[in-house]
Amino acid sequence: MPCPAILFVCLGNICRSPLAEAAFRQAAEAAGLVVKVDSAGTGDWHVGKAPDRRAQATALAAGIDISGYRARQLEPDDFGWFTHIFVMDHENLADARAIAPAGARAQPVLLLDLVPGREGEAVADPYYGGQDQFAATWADVSAAAHALVTRLQSHG
Ligand code: 4NP
Repeated sequence: MPCPAILFVCLGNICRSPLAEAAFRQAAEAAGLVVKVDSAGTGDWHVGKAPDRRAQATALAAGIDISGYRARQLEPDDFGWFTHIFVMDHENLADARAIAPAGARAQPVLLLDLVPGREGEAVADPYYGGQDQFAATWADVSAAAHALVTRLQSHG
């Protein structure tokens, strides 16, 4: 089986998807999984920027330094490079599907579809919220990260 390549996608690539990337990197490393991991945004407003400082603080509280991450925009080639593309909400899903090449290898799916009982739900956008919103984001992406590790360990 080829090395899984996982892409997490949100709107700005400065809040939710960097946290999903961080949570999954940590969970995959702890499980000894060999994976490629990245994140991207459907929008281009924050390209080249570091994650939101509230996202950085949230990750750091879990022992992960994401200050070196830089935002980039989702592009059509991503659908060939990655084996799995997880999006945070329904708007991300529609935007990702709109640029997916026909016959693409990876089909975008909601991140919380990985979590039993949370199928069809969105990871809420914390950008206009406070630190508690970021804690909720972290709880969501951590639950999904652990579910994804379990899934990859069992059947890829
Ligand atoms: P993200 O959050 O999609 O989780 O990175 C947002 C970041 C920026 C904006 C919206 C959401 N914005 O409107 O600039």
